[in-house]
Amino acid sequence: MKAVIFDLDGVITDTAEYHFLAWKHIAEQIDIPFDRSMNESLKGISREKSLENILIYGGAEASYTNAEKQDLLHQKNKYYQTLISKLTPEDLLPGIGRLLRELKVENIKIGLASSSRNAPEILRRLEIIDDFHAIVDPTALAKGKPDPEIFLTAAALLGVSPADCAAVEDAEAGIAAIKSAGMFAVGVGYEQSMHDADLIVRQTCDLTFEVLNEEWKSYTINRIQK
Ligand code: BG6
Ligand code: MG
Repeated sequence: MKAVIFDLDGVITDTAEYHFLAWKHIAEQIDIPFDRSMNESLKGISREKSLENILIYGGAEASYTNAEKQDLLHQKNKYYQTLISKLTPEDLLPGIGRLLRELKVENIKIGLASSSRNAPEILRRLEIIDDFHAIVDPTALAKGKPDPEIFLTAAALLGVSPADCAAVEDAEAGIAAIKSAGMFAVGVGYEQSMHDADLIVRQTCDLTFEVLNEEWKSYTINRIQK
């Protein structure tokens, strides 16, 4: 294992909850019911695609002009930015600070593969931006998760072969992207949406370097034997 690539929202900090609150706020304004199961399907998906999916779900895709959609996207992001403006280093999810320190000690490179344009701001607020050797710019990508492009770009920026990377995700689309990139996938959360992951942890505090490395070793042995 030469690099670990992280998703951000729901893995490093609980901003997945803030995305939920911001979309709920918008959906209520336009009278579309929005709940946690709908939100689950938006995890890892771009802002624009998320709005499109919400409008389709509410049977309202033809009811808004492009300018109106732009306005809704802008409002959602403003609401979201108000929520993230309160983030501090205390908002790192449990165990993530320890894992970053352990990876540093082991000389393992650290990358970020988040679909969020707010990612650099969040990393700055959490005071961990300097721990990352590479941060993918999602606006420079042709395709979003579940396409592997974002993870392959992170590996290329780090100068590491995808086969030597592990990546951590909380979304089904993210796990699919990691697996298509040919990497070792770590899923954080409930097993049902993580079934393709190579290692599943219920919570970030369960993800230590030791756990990661043990699973990596058996995964590598299996890969060689195949
Ligand atoms: C992903 C989130 O990390 O980023 C999605 O899981 C979000 O919910 C996407 O839509 C884009 O984020 P932003 O901050 O650019 O709107
Ligand atoms: Mg996520």
